[in-house]
Amino acid sequence: MSTSFQNIRGTFDILPDAYTEGETRIASSAEWQAVESVIDDVMRRYNYEEIRTPIFEPTELVARGVGQNTDIVQKEMFAFERSDTQYVLRPEITAPVMRAYLQHHLDQRGGVQKLFYVGPCFRAEKPQKGRYRQFHQFGVEVIGADDARADAETIASMMAIYDAFGIDDTRLRINTLGMPAARSAYVSDLVDYLEPYADELSDTSRRRLETNPLRILDTKLDHEQDLLRDAPILTDYVRDEDRAHYEEVKGLLDELDVAYDEDPHLVRGLDYYTRTAFELESPSLGAQSALAGGGRYDLLAQEIGSDEPVPAIGYAAGMERLFLALDTDRLPEPDRPDVFLAALGDDAARWVFRTTQTLRREGLHVAFDMKGRSLKAQMREANRQDATYTLIIGGNELEAEAATVKHMESGEQTEVPFAELTDYLTDRATA
Ligand code: HAM
Repeated sequence: MSTSFQNIRGTFDILPDAYTEGETRIASSAEWQAVESVIDDVMRRYNYEEIRTPIFEPTELVARGVGQNTDIVQKEMFAFERSDTQYVLRPEITAPVMRAYLQHHLDQRGGVQKLFYVGPCFRAEKPQKGRYRQFHQFGVEVIGADDARADAETIASMMAIYDAFGIDDTRLRINTLGMPAARSAYVSDLVDYLEPYADELSDTSRRRLETNPLRILDTKLDHEQDLLRDAPILTDYVRDEDRAHYEEVKGLLDELDVAYDEDPHLVRGLDYYTRTAFELESPSLGAQSALAGGGRYDLLAQEIGSDEPVPAIGYAAGMERLFLALDTDRLPEPDRPDVFLAALGDDAARWVFRTTQTLRREGLHVAFDMKGRSLKAQMREANRQDATYTLIIGGNELEAEAATVKHMESGEQTEVPFAELTDYLTDRATA
């Protein structure tokens, strides 16, 4: 079979079975569900509540929130216009969550709002391993707390998710970015320091020297990292109170036994960050090594129109990168049919079709064949679907009003009257 269409490059289909595309294994839908349920469980334990926001938002929200000079806004937005309004497929979920928080006055629920989400995001990046144009993030936003415990708990909850999957070859880097005044004083000194070396910088970094000098600190190039070794350090420009906050966060992470490396060169690709910033990487991922990243964004609310400051912190993580780091053998087995009903002849097929409904109403997972295939083909299908029990119904069974129930793994067969079938199967399926 064929079609002249294909999914768009940088996107992928999630199918009932896992498959490979290029060198990447695309997990099955059951594996996605299993992973999402572990994430849900950790979120529940850390007392987060779920929030779901639309897939598209006004472009202005993203431009103001994420920042006009970021790569995301400059080159990676999937944007469209309709009736003179500019929209964008959300490239991230922090600005949308803050919009929803402000719009619906979630502060009135009282206390700190601890929200989590899982869902697709869109960035027009060059697709490669671990980097897609439609990818999925899970993450949290903790809104209304400037307490250092919010920072430490957010980071700890992120680590708890990777722990739950047994992923421990990770490195957590943290830094403080201070407030904008410290950052602009720093950026101006950083530019002064780097300008004499402009000829030695890569094209990207030279461009960033004009547009977003902080991002040069992100460089992966050895000779640029060497150049940066004697550059001024952002931490030295940060206000005492922000440094004190940072010290407190580190102390609390120690108390929670969360291991971290301080990295004064850690900056993030989005503009809204203030104070704490962090990133989790896994060396096993290759070029796209960031599993997750986040930080505090105490000024975002005002940036998108709030008349009051709203302190907040959060992180987001790539689901596809979690899958790359994950050992899928550790995931729970997918659900399989409790029973497969095989039919021999038209009367039996009719009985089977009716009985599937009766058994399903009792909560059983029931499969049967709709193609009217041979008994052999039906048994092959029962095996492929890995059904726990199989029933073969033919003329004799209909007449005797009893069927042979076969336990597929042991091969054991039991004669069960039709009237007792539901009880027989439900007792065993829930056992
Ligand atoms: P981000 O660092 O841009 O932060 O993205 C977070 C994570 O999403 C990355 O670490 C990566 O795992 C995944 N990711 C990003 N782009 C792609 C892509 N093209 N393909 C696959 N995975 C990708 C944020 O989005 C912030 N909103 C995080 C945050 C929440 N900060 C505070 N609260």
